[in-house]
Amino acid sequence: MKPAIHVASLRKTFKGRDGATHTVLKNLDLEVGVGEFLCILGPSGCGKSTLLNVLAGLDKVYEGRASVSSGRIGYLFQEPRLLPWLTAEGNLDFALASCRVPTERWDQLKSRYLAMTGLSDYRTYYPHQISGGMAQRLALVRALCVEPGILLMDEPFSGLDEITARRIRTDLLTIWEETRKTIVFVTHNAYEACFLADRILVMSGGAFQQEMPVPIARPRSYDDSAVFELSRDVIKAFGDGMGREPAPVAVPKPHSNLVDDLDRHTAARMNL
Ligand SMILES: Nc1ncnc2c1ncn2[C@@H]1O[C@H](COP(=O)(O)OP(=O)(O)OP(=O)(O)O)[C@@H](O)[C@H]1O
Ligand SMILES: [Mg+2]
Repeated sequence: MKPAIHVASLRKTFKGRDGATHTVLKNLDLEVGVGEFLCILGPSGCGKSTLLNVLAGLDKVYEGRASVSSGRIGYLFQEPRLLPWLTAEGNLDFALASCRVPTERWDQLKSRYLAMTGLSDYRTYYPHQISGGMAQRLALVRALCVEPGILLMDEPFSGLDEITARRIRTDLLTIWEETRKTIVFVTHNAYEACFLADRILVMSGGAFQQEMPVPIARPRSYDDSAVFELSRDVIKAFGDGMGREPAPVAVPKPHSNLVDDLDRHTAARMNL
């Protein structure tokens, strides 16, 4: 069967503020099977969001090939990106209309996913009237509501408290098992990756460093020692990958301004 996502020799560069060209994605090859749950795990700045943007078709300037199977793509960004002048429900309606989901399905879809994320009572609230975690959950509802064949998720639960995140991960797996969407899920959290994925790709410095299958039977439990043990191996692979190629350090300009100073101090604090 044709894969849902096929990437070959994908290379992506950005011009840095110093004028130099930085290669952010280095000849990536990737196939994601239809219905597969793939997690991509990697340190900050290694190119995860850049890759998702290419897969989503938002970034079309790259070398190599990146093709996804036809059908809707749901994209849950790293930040909620809600429309501030629309209510929670208005944001969902906007997405449903944009994706031409038949109107007779709207109520059922909205009710299901709002209930799943604990937001049923907030339909009439504007984005500034809900918390950051609620806004991210609303963004998840928006991504699911359009019934995508492929769901791209960029660190979707990192801003949620662990209890809520656990509940939503379990619900996400239920939806995935029911609908067999293809999911590409980016995270920093090895335990989350082992709980969710069929396969984990450890990414570092714009390249995939290691592929790790997750041979743990489903349904999975947070108390399963197999999840814990595999997450230890994944953290080791993550650390080894980081050791192979350190994250690039921003080159300070000779006459730095406040933002440059902040960047340098942040970098120093993080031992970059
Ligand atoms: N529009 C842009 N212009 C210039 N450089 C960019 C641009 N977008 C991303 N980059 C650079 O590409 C690199 C990868 O960024 P990306 O956002 O893909 O990282 P990430 O792995 O998603 O990190 P994080 O986990 O922090 O979200 C970074 O060094 C970033 O500065
Ligand atoms: Mg990112």
